[in-house]
Amino acid sequence: MDIRLQFNTESVNWQEAAEVIRLAPLAIREPEQLHRSFANSYVACFAFDSNRLVGMGRAICDGEFHAALYDLVVLPEYQASGIGKAIVEAIHDRLPKSLSTIILYANPGKEPFYEKLGYHRLLTGMIRPGDVKKYREKGHIK
Ligand SMILES: CC(C)(COP(=O)(O)OP(=O)(O)OC[C@H]1O[C@@H](n2cnc3c(N)ncnc32)[C@H](O)[C@@H]1OP(=O)(O)O)[C@@H](O)C(=O)NCCC(=O)NCCS
Repeated sequence: MDIRLQFNTESVNWQEAAEVIRLAPLAIREPEQLHRSFANSYVACFAFDSNRLVGMGRAICDGEFHAALYDLVVLPEYQASGIGKAIVEAIHDRLPKSLSTIILYANPGKEPFYEKLGYHRLLTGMIRPGDVKKYREKGHIK
């Protein structure tokens, strides 16, 4: 498998991107909102198998101290072949070296994946969800 990583939003089909996020599964996203969120991120990464979008991820960042990782997904049939790890490492490489932290909240069960990439479980993490019920149902909060 020859996977190519791309770091700009050119040529990305946002309908296809929304499908990858839905099928992964992670979330249901409107293609236009997805486009804006990736375009407004500090680093956006897309993984292609030939011309097929098979994974993606992004980071927002203040350029100096802090960054946050979001929307990391790989299509189910491409999972467990190193693509998620390659996306995260490529994002790390493109963030400022001066950062003191990169944060994220993991989908329940994905914590060991991130631990392998140097992340630790937060003891004092807090989140203010727009939709408390949804975050409770997904297992992010009690
Ligand atoms: C989480 C996700 C992005 C991982 O991508 P992936 O391409 O399947 O992962 P990789 O093949 O790069 O795995 C890298 C390493 O993490 C391990 N790993 C992956 N998922 C794991 C899990 N759930 N639990 C434990 N280890 C895991 C792999 O075994 C591999 O270990 P190795 O380096 O020792 O061989 C992918 O499973 C996914 O898209 N899941 C659905 C959406 C989702 O939950 N995204 C995360 C949002 S927080």
